[in-house]
Amino acid sequence: MNDRFRVAVVGLGVGGAHADGFARLPDDFEVVVAADLDPERVRFVTEWLGCDGATTLDEVCARDDVDIVSLATPPHFHFEQVEQVLLAGKHVICEKPLVGSLAEVDALAGIERAAGRTVMPIFQYRFGRGLQKLRWLVDEGLAGACHTVNVEVSWRRRADYYAVPWRGRYDTELGGVLLSHALHAIDMVTYVAGPVTRVFARTTTRVNDIETEDTASVSMELAGGGFVTLSATLGSPEEITRHRFAFERLSAESNTAPYENHRDPWTFTGDTEADAEEIDRALGRFVPRPELYKGQFVRLAESLRAGEPPPVTLADARAALEVVTAAYASAAGGVDVALPIADDHPSYRGWR
Ligand SMILES: NC(=O)c1ccc[n+]([C@@H]2O[C@H](COP(=O)([O-])OP(=O)(O)OC[C@H]3O[C@@H](n4cnc5c(N)ncnc54)[C@H](O)[C@@H]3O)[C@@H](O)[C@H]2O)c1
Repeated sequence: MNDRFRVAVVGLGVGGAHADGFARLPDDFEVVVAADLDPERVRFVTEWLGCDGATTLDEVCARDDVDIVSLATPPHFHFEQVEQVLLAGKHVICEKPLVGSLAEVDALAGIERAAGRTVMPIFQYRFGRGLQKLRWLVDEGLAGACHTVNVEVSWRRRADYYAVPWRGRYDTELGGVLLSHALHAIDMVTYVAGPVTRVFARTTTRVNDIETEDTASVSMELAGGGFVTLSATLGSPEEITRHRFAFERLSAESNTAPYENHRDPWTFTGDTEADAEEIDRALGRFVPRPELYKGQFVRLAESLRAGEPPPVTLADARAALEVVTAAYASAAGGVDVALPIADDHPSYRGWR
């Protein structure tokens, strides 16, 4: 086994942040090649990291000095590119949204098994220290049942954002604010409060002149019986993201930094003085770890070396995509949608 995993980063928009995450972990990873259709983007990264450049995924897959391919290409390419990388015998990291249907996630799970390689979808918000502290308190048994979760994803996107041709269209972005922007926030909910069992949603397009939805309201029921209320818009003049959890023994509220509310500071309030003391003691034992892409990648290196599942699995991506699938089905039909969405559900093969 290699001491360091040799990585190819493909798609150098947010892929630049992938490269940065790997570069911050020099004992675990070495970026050997950076690829993009745009030679300017390639030049920037190759000069920065001193790695090779490439313009196609074919070139990357043909190399025998690449262990992991990290994909940050537009969403409509993800399914075929993840498949191509697995068939080339390499591990693959893929940006959200992983793919455009539950059928495609399940197909990738079969290909992953057959290839004996690992697929790790990106959910880097999971590893923010504020959310990690809440997860720690839940794992320590200090939270109790979850009664409600309130989630606000209030962001602003203007015409310049949609000048990038793949954005705002179902064929290429695959969905709007729920799929592209609120997916992290949904994952943050299920990561600490468990699976969703029912979804009712309304969606609309009212901020920008685009095809995909840019405003949504979603009501969910959790397997434990609690409720989640999520509102998301790309038309909020002040940008915030907020998560507020009311558990039996503690309430937890994130900060409202729009893209970093998963990080410190969060506020934890115990139901009783004794609960508050236990929370303080537990937080005293919390061991901070790296956050964001670096946080997800360092955990990946550990899992690959240990032969264990990655820190975010296909099943995790599926859980978030299942909520979104249900939300789109609900909004289209004006009905409450029960999960799981089985392979005979009309939305299993896609929400359009
Ligand atoms: N996790 C996050 O927080 C986060 C944030 C932003 C974007 N994303 C996701 O990352 C992905 C990319 O988004 P972006 O904003 O960086 O888009 P972008 O358009 O800025 O960058 C995508 C890049 O991929 C390149 N590309 C396209 N097809 C290619 C191919 N076949 N081979 C090589 N390069 C190719 C393009 O030339 C472009 O430079 C999307 O899925 C998006 O949803 C995730």
